[in-house]
Formats: sequence, structure tokens, C-alpha cells
Amino acid sequence: MLSIDLKGKRALVAGVADDGGYGFAIAKALAEAGATVCAGTWPPALNIFLNLLERGKIDAARRMPDDSLLQFEKIYPLDAVFDTLAEAPEDIRGNKRYKDVGDFSIAGLAQRLVQDFGARPLDIVVHSLANGPEVKKPLLETTRAGYLAAVSASAYSLVSLVARLGPLTRPGGSFLSLTYMASERVVPGYGGGMSSAKAALESDTRTLAFEAGRKYGLRVNTISAGPLASRAASAIGKIAQMVEYYAANAPLTEPLTAREVGTTAAFLASPLGSGITGTTIYVDKGYHAMGAAVDAGLGARAPS
Ligand SMILES: NC(=O)c1ccc[n+]([C@@H]2O[C@H](COP(=O)([O-])OP(=O)(O)OC[C@H]3O[C@@H](n4cnc5c(N)ncnc54)[C@H](O)[C@@H]3O)[C@@H](O)[C@H]2O)c1
Repeated sequence: MLSIDLKGKRALVAGVADDGGYGFAIAKALAEAGATVCAGTWPPALNIFLNLLERGKIDAARRMPDDSLLQFEKIYPLDAVFDTLAEAPEDIRGNKRYKDVGDFSIAGLAQRLVQDFGARPLDIVVHSLANGPEVKKPLLETTRAGYLAAVSASAYSLVSLVARLGPLTRPGGSFLSLTYMASERVVPGYGGGMSSAKAALESDTRTLAFEAGRKYGLRVNTISAGPLASRAASAIGKIAQMVEYYAANAPLTEPLTAREVGTTAAFLASPLGSGITGTTIYVDKGYHAMGAAVDAGLGARAPS
């Protein structure tokens, strides 16, 4: 029987801080396929996440098919806008959420992984993080600083992760990120340079697939996911309407689940996906294929 088998593989999922987002669902699917999973968590959200875990608040979501609870082998502090600790400004390093967690940069993460598990500790790296401080502003009103911050946190962070963790991956390694269709079509409300950041992320996925494919033999893909009411998406606002809009207009009308993104990620990371790299894969119930809204008065109706 053909099955997704990740036994003996170690994954790092960067961008998990609760049970509501794509990162968590991906971590769970990878673990269900047999991988051990480490998390990278943004320092401002780290204590909240550790508390959720400790107090059993997300045990229901952590429940695995064999009745055990999803375990994170390690949870590392990670602020993906810093490549090295020296680049972090004093006010961040001295901030109460940062000062006691150690080196939270991408280089620091790489160093800790090697310290904890040896020179080639990884098989799978998932980038499931984004941040755009001005996301609620239309692009026309976005400041240069806001735009660059969005691109730094949401796109360059992948470049830096591949550069620093690529050398740490074992043969057959796989990198995966999450993108959104606002990179290629206009989605009013997805502002602050976030649409630009996702366009960069998708373009970089192709270039990184080539460069890191040749250099390390690893694969780089991105999943273009439909809307999900995660913590990050709720900050954008109007996410409930987006979910409804997709359900009304996509080829498949059941709302997308995070698990559907998780299982696609597990497949892509597995040897079954060994021929796939440099690709944007849509997991959005087919919405990306549509050219007009169902109720646009063009006579569209389900075929009988
Ligand atoms: N939710 C959606 O509708 C949707 C749709 C398509 C793509 N995506 C993408 O999926 C990915 C995961 O987002 P999500 O919606 O599941 O929300 P989420 O809140 O679960 O994940 C976002 C994570 O990014 C972390 N983060 C923010 N800035 C960071 C930084 N500087 N360094 C490290 N971590 C940082 C947050 O702490 C959070 O854990 C993002 O790339 C997002 O753009 C989301």
C-alpha cells in the first residue's frame, strides 16, 4: 500500500504559537506520518504557547489517531526578521519577551539545532509565518517602512532559512512555505505590502529550488492556501467574509480545513513528492481557477 511515511525524519515548523493556524496542522500531519517535529515560535507568542501546552488547553487539537498527544521535540524561540542576534536592536534584545530566551535569530536557531541533534539534524523545514504591520492599509497608503517590514518578515525570512538550514538538511530534504493568491490577483484588504511579499515568496521559491537543489539536493515548494480564520488572518479583519466568499464561489463549497493543507504538506515533504520542486501548489478548494463570482449574473449554476 502506498502511504506517506516520514518515520526517522525530523521536521522544523517555523510559525507555530497555537492550534489555530496552518503551522500547527502541518506539524500534526507530519507527526501522524511518523516525523518528529520541532517548532520555531515568535518570542512575543512563546510564553502564551508554552502555557497553552502546559495547561492542556489545546490537548483536543493535539490528540493523535493513536490517542497520544502531539509532542514537539523542541520549541525554539525564533524571530525570523533577524539573521543574527547582532542585527537585533537593543530595544528588542532588552524587551521582556526576548531577553531571557537566548539567541532567537535564524543563525541562532541553526546553531541550537546542531548543538541539540548534530551536524545534519533536519529533513523537513516548514515556513508558516508572515507579518505585515500595515496589512490593513491599502498599498497606496503603505509606508516604505511598512512595506519593507512585510517583505522582510514574510519573504526574506524564507531565503534566510534556506541559506542557514539548507546545509543542515539530510539528503532528500524538503522546504515548504505558505503563500496566498493575493500575490497574483487583486484581493482588496490584503494590504501593507503583504501581496508584494507573497509575490516575492513565490518567485523566490522557484529561484531557491534551483539554487538549493543544485547546492544541497533539496526541494523548495509553496502551498497557496485558501482563507482560514487563524490568529494571523483574524488580525487582517474580514476573514469570516473571505471564508464565506470562497465557500460560495469555489468549485468545492465545503470550507477549507487546516488539515487539508497539513496533509498536502506531509505528501510534499515525503519521498512521494520527490519529483516536485519550485512549485506553487493550490490548496484552496479550487478557488484559484475561477474567473467570475458564481452570483455575478452570468448564468453560472452547478451542472445537473
Ligand atoms: N490564514 C489564511 O487565511 C492564510 C491563507 C494563505 C496563506 N496563509 C499563510 O499561512 C502562514 C501561516 O499563517 P496562519 O494564517 O496559519 O496564522 P498563524 O497565526 O497560525 O501563523 C503565523 C505565525 O507567524 C508568527 N510570526 C509572525 N512574525 C514572526 C517573526 N518575525 N518571526 C517568527 N514568527 C513570526 C506568529 O507568531 C504566528 O505563529 C502565513 O505565511 C500566512 O500568510 C494564511
